[in-house]
Amino acid sequence: METEFDWHSARAALEWQMDLGVTETLLDAPVNRFEAPPTDTPAPAAVSASVAKEVNPVDVARGAATEATSLGALSRAMSAYPHCDLRKGARNTVFADGNPAARVMIIGEAPGRDEDRQGQPFVGRAGQLLDRMFGAIGLSRSAADPAAALYITNVLPWRPPQNRDPRADEIAMLIPFLRRHIELADPEILVIMGNISCQAVLGRRGITRLRGQWADALGKPTLPMFHPAYLLRQASAKREAWADLLELNAKLKR
Ligand code: URA
Repeated sequence: METEFDWHSARAALEWQMDLGVTETLLDAPVNRFEAPPTDTPAPAAVSASVAKEVNPVDVARGAATEATSLGALSRAMSAYPHCDLRKGARNTVFADGNPAARVMIIGEAPGRDEDRQGQPFVGRAGQLLDRMFGAIGLSRSAADPAAALYITNVLPWRPPQNRDPRADEIAMLIPFLRRHIELADPEILVIMGNISCQAVLGRRGITRLRGQWADALGKPTLPMFHPAYLLRQASAKREAWADLLELNAKLKR
């Protein structure tokens, strides 16, 4: 009953106000609208705070990579790195395979379908060819002896969709991890396979000219070679690949 009375009283009071010419309802306390911040434009302090919060993915990668003091820590840091969208589409983070104490570290491009499924680098057809190639000069990823062993990784730990070439920004944000990977594994010799690896490690492309020529990366003798996936398509290039393997073998024996 009381509610009904209140409702009728409130309505009567409102009608009385309308009769008096009230056209707007106001708060009990006045609002100075010249002082209130506009609701759709952030105040200057909020703008500078949001700019300060914008992150540079390369800096984040560099920080995370530098903090890692072991290969295990680096692998975890890469798996947790949130700024590369390739990670979202990948089944696995493919970090490395083989013997981390090996004299030779091989750097490929990126996992393909098989590598993404199995979480290991170079396990598909190109990987099987890679194993045969290096096996021919007595090197294997399963060897316990560092002198006969290989340590294998890629520039990218995540498979790009449909195996597309990685974009420059994707390579740039993952290079700090690769550099740290090389520092921590500390091989004697680097072998970089294909253009993406040459771009990431030497800052240059043009594998046809670069292959077989020793270069220097992070103070290590570095041999660019044709990528085994290219050799599967272009069998005639196997002759140059064989020459490069013999050159690597000679360097190891020197
Ligand atoms: N190609 C690469 O470059 N890396 C792999 O792991 C597999 C194929």
